[in-house]
Amino acid sequence: MSRQILVTHALPYANGPLHFGHIIEAVQTDVWVRFQKLRGHHCLFVCAEDTHGTPIMIRAQQEGITPEQLIAASATDHARDYEGFMIGYDHFHSTHSAENREHTYALYTTLRDKGHITRRSVRQAYDEQAGMFLPDRYVRGNCPRCDAADQYGDSCEVCGATYSPADLKNAVSTVTGTTPVLRDSDHLFFKLGDFETMLRQWLTDSHLQESVQAKLAEWFEAGLKDWDISRDSPYFGFEVPDAPGKYFYVWFDAPIGYIGAFAALCAKRGLDFDHWWKSETATELHHFIGKDISYFHTLFWPAVLHGGGLRRPTAVHVHGFLTVDGAKMSKSRGTFITASRYLQLLPGEPLRYYFAAKLTGGIEDIDLSLDDFTARVNSDIVGKLVNIASRCAPFIERAGGHLADTLPDSALYTRFIEGREHLASLYEARDTAALVREVMHLADLANQYVDQQKPWIMAKDPARSDEARAVATQAINLFRVLLVYLSPILPRITQTAAGWLGEDAFASWDSVETPLTSRAIGKYPQLATRLDPALVKQLVVSPATPAAPPAPAKATVKAAATPAVGTPPATKAAPVAATHQEPAMITIDDFAKLDLRAARVLECSRVEGSDKLLCFKLDLGDHQRQVFSGIAASYAPEQLIGRFVVMVANLAPRKMRFGISEGMVLCASGKAEGGPDTVFLLSADSGVQPGMKIS
Ligand code: 2FM
Ligand code: ZN
Repeated sequence: MSRQILVTHALPYANGPLHFGHIIEAVQTDVWVRFQKLRGHHCLFVCAEDTHGTPIMIRAQQEGITPEQLIAASATDHARDYEGFMIGYDHFHSTHSAENREHTYALYTTLRDKGHITRRSVRQAYDEQAGMFLPDRYVRGNCPRCDAADQYGDSCEVCGATYSPADLKNAVSTVTGTTPVLRDSDHLFFKLGDFETMLRQWLTDSHLQESVQAKLAEWFEAGLKDWDISRDSPYFGFEVPDAPGKYFYVWFDAPIGYIGAFAALCAKRGLDFDHWWKSETATELHHFIGKDISYFHTLFWPAVLHGGGLRRPTAVHVHGFLTVDGAKMSKSRGTFITASRYLQLLPGEPLRYYFAAKLTGGIEDIDLSLDDFTARVNSDIVGKLVNIASRCAPFIERAGGHLADTLPDSALYTRFIEGREHLASLYEARDTAALVREVMHLADLANQYVDQQKPWIMAKDPARSDEARAVATQAINLFRVLLVYLSPILPRITQTAAGWLGEDAFASWDSVETPLTSRAIGKYPQLATRLDPALVKQLVVSPATPAAPPAPAKATVKAAATPAVGTPPATKAAPVAATHQEPAMITIDDFAKLDLRAARVLECSRVEGSDKLLCFKLDLGDHQRQVFSGIAASYAPEQLIGRFVVMVANLAPRKMRFGISEGMVLCASGKAEGGPDTVFLLSADSGVQPGMKIS
């Protein structure tokens, strides 16, 4: 029976870039949605920018732009990144929208009229200079318990104490640096306790993971407290209709953004809003979130919906945090990997595969090991899955591009399709780690089949070419079954393969019941390429490397790198030209940040479409790099092959129009005696080995 399923993941804040933590959640959700669609269900996937609140207001002020401009810029960046990871929303909206305002007001008014809203005075830190109340995170000072300096207004990172900003010693507003005062103001509270009985029931009826249910039980034990849903002006958000100068707290209207996004989709597609939001049986509502925001989604949110006369979620699916190489993502260790940095270096699909291969449907943390990522993708996707197709396609091409009429080993085919309901149940439970394991086991069997049959030997004998075609037909059919199973995870490979085998081959989960026989297929396309470990390594930005991509390789020596070459000396004794500018001084520590290496030029060529650039392939001993350098006016590429150059090896890679530049070769620039302006490649002395460090 076809189900009607509405799905969301957590709305990203509109004041920062997407990072891997966002992407793993978006991938988990998108894979689940694509699976449901493949099964023939009517599944809709919506999301939105989370646009309100103090951080967005302050960030916009700091940048000298309006919050609307800030959120518009964020929306553009986020859309580009989500697209890079092939997240297929039916609609992506914004919480700063007419639809969200309408539904926020409607829910609030209903809750208020039913007596679930109360008003009382709250004492809070106030910045007199900025003229605003300060959220706890905007007050810093000494911990009242252990005296640790520079702690947030709500908790101490050193001793773990929790407190209110009024308890902090030497409190300072991070907005103006002044000492905050305490001020009283009326706030609106949502009476969560009114819903305890309903929530206890929902907890057992809805589909929550056991660990999430256990957490909820703890919260019930601790007692359900009223929730402050208002903030004082100035605040970027929706003003409370019956309380001028008060705004809805961002966390009140953010989940309502799910509804706002769906309402916008209704307008686009002519869907019936009430059908999806007023009944708990006609349709399903699934939220995918991280464990840090489960309180909002498993207590406040079902209570607000229920109190407001709308349906509650069918399920809230909680995932754990992402760690990189075993540790929390960290800006200082360079492991806070943004989506855009990843996409500058690598295609999105391999990471979808890796995340899917790690996600179990539980709430434990998920580790991204960069070495494992490369090894797993290259071994599973390229070495196993695509290998089945690529090694057998030539035997079909030789037979005129036609698949055989029957499968020579139908029992093996049956074995591949008979477990599909079990595989579907793994998707349903979001245990894609187990699913990928089982599919890869089948991929091993398919490769073993080809190894045993040896179609390449059959093909040598003209009398056996039909046999070779039959074996290839069998193998391509096994590949097709596996790719149907993996298609929610690998949409791009699936799309390419559909161009080869036919759109119908991947159209539905059950399409595998019928094997592909007696049909003409296209020319085999390249389905995947290996991940380059050197590029993967560059995902982690060493703290010494600028996070933003640098300018393309420049044929000039930075004063920092070689102050003595090509730049007038900055000492008093030397003659200094009238126009000479003192180079900006750096410390030895700044210099030490540069990783300078001797590199041998393996290949060098002009770049089509550019007068200035040469493209180098450089040997650094244990790996190779591609570097673009704007020195074509001074050197012919043939001159450079085989010679040594000096390169900056820890420069963040930069995607250029012609490819990725993975470093910079150093040159001196200036006039040779009596000659025109030119550049001189710096060279390492003879005897140097590729990869040697230059200090
Ligand atoms: O934690 C966050 O990143 C929030 N922006 C998530 C909001 S999800 C929903 F409730 F709106
Ligand atoms: Zn402390």
